[in-house]
Amino acid sequence: MKPSSLNKYSSFKTVELKNRTWPDKEISSAPIWCSVDLRDGNQALAIPMNISQKLELFELLVEIGFKEIEIGFPSASETEFNFVRKLVDENLIPEGVKLQCLVQAREHLIRRTFEAIEGVPNAIVHIYNSTSPLQRDITFGGATKDEIKSIAVEGTKLIKELVSTVPETQIDLEYSPESFSDTELEFALDVCEGVMEVWEPSPSKPIILNLPATVEWTTPNVHADQIEWFCNNLNNRDSAIISLHTHNDRGTGTAATELGLMAGANRVEGTLFGNGERTGNLDIATVALNMNSHGIETGLDFSDIPKAREVYERCTQMKVPDRHPYAGDLVFTAFSGSHQDAIKKGMDKIHSSDSSWAVPYLTIDPTDIGRTYEAIIRINSQSGKGGIAYILDREYGFDIPKAMQPVVGTTIYQLADKKGKELSNHEIFEAFQAEFVNVVNHLSLEEYELLHNDIKDGNVCCEAKLIKNGDQYDIKGNGNGPINAFVNALEKLGQKDFNLKDYRSHAIKGGSDADSAAYILLESFDGKEAWGCGVDPSIEIAGVKALISALNLLK
Ligand code: KIV
Ligand code: ZN
Repeated sequence: MKPSSLNKYSSFKTVELKNRTWPDKEISSAPIWCSVDLRDGNQALAIPMNISQKLELFELLVEIGFKEIEIGFPSASETEFNFVRKLVDENLIPEGVKLQCLVQAREHLIRRTFEAIEGVPNAIVHIYNSTSPLQRDITFGGATKDEIKSIAVEGTKLIKELVSTVPETQIDLEYSPESFSDTELEFALDVCEGVMEVWEPSPSKPIILNLPATVEWTTPNVHADQIEWFCNNLNNRDSAIISLHTHNDRGTGTAATELGLMAGANRVEGTLFGNGERTGNLDIATVALNMNSHGIETGLDFSDIPKAREVYERCTQMKVPDRHPYAGDLVFTAFSGSHQDAIKKGMDKIHSSDSSWAVPYLTIDPTDIGRTYEAIIRINSQSGKGGIAYILDREYGFDIPKAMQPVVGTTIYQLADKKGKELSNHEIFEAFQAEFVNVVNHLSLEEYELLHNDIKDGNVCCEAKLIKNGDQYDIKGNGNGPINAFVNALEKLGQKDFNLKDYRSHAIKGGSDADSAAYILLESFDGKEAWGCGVDPSIEIAGVKALISALNLLK
């Protein structure tokens, strides 16, 4: 902003809270979760969900483990009303799941809501009215505090009266002083206590007091102070469940919820991936997975987050951004070479020792939420050699010698540069094969045989048929191993103008056939070097093919 714009704004009032305790608290157990996807999330969609989309999302929420689901605003439209009726009439509400219905604290809307919930086994009737000075002045044309309080109290009286009209339904009451985040705390408390006096909750039948950060006006520590202050000052605290409902206007909705839990709240409302008005509601998946990442059981199962994302995107027509925690396409991808090297080392250690999760740059094991290792590293021209080695090793079973990794890396980065894009794992593997494996150009191996019965004094003998620049050569040589015998055969033919500097081989991990890979580094007499790789079911022939590859690459 330009400095001239700043005089429109002022700082936000902080809470006078002596001896606040939340900064020393740790989250050690999960709250009660309530999904508001089908209400707050839905009302923020350009095209609200139809009944079948709502049903599909409802089923997903149930599958994830939500026991409290705000299914809509049944008094607001026919679709919303009919959705509740469908759930009831078609017996679609799983046992133990409470249906929450939002309604303004207004008589005709409350009555209509009771018509909608008839036959629901467990319902939470959620009334709200706005309480902040801004809302009192602007939206309610200067309504007094008493007038605002009486809206809540009268609404509660009516709900209490109507409970007997739905005898098959177990009713809980939720009250939200909407715009709590910028309401005077004493007034919010007064209104909530007024509601409690009417409802008469008890520790065994508590009321839900939902304290929304309808708009996130300030830093999360102030939200935590508000919650701790409220919990400390509420009469009959043990008869109330304190619920959080943060929005994300400043981008700190998750932090506000987490600090709010440390400050004493027991329940959290939010949506999958943070859909909701403006910058969205709290992303429940993020908060739950943050807890999981500290070893806390949450009762919510996000072990198949790609599926949750797919259903969510289809039903809401929203997109999860690439960088969105846990669910975004790029959040388990490292582009930087040093990050890739560190991740590879961390993964290797985890796999070799089965130890607890400790991998640099990754807070959780992506496979725990249905993401794959394959997506962890992609290669572009800025990536490090470790990333390519990691992919060839982890995905294709090639454990490339350390000394060979830079040359493989350089070749593959050049390809990425030429294509001007990231390479998929498959493209990396194809490039590696094309450039280094069983390379045939001026020299090719037609036949190769190890004559084991010619083994004398620990030596082996080999016979091979070679094509060099179109001419065929039959060669034969002895040596202390298959490679050495082949090199000696080449020497006899006057073809040896190199030194063999490095050699290693291994069985290819996880391959469907039992192939072996061998890697050979050759140096020409004029000081040039080339690495070649050979692949063959026979480990000896893999070595010879690696030699031929290196010879072809040396020229
Ligand atoms: O954000 C909000 O304040 C709400 C209330 C209706 C709970 O969505
Ligand atoms: Zn909201």
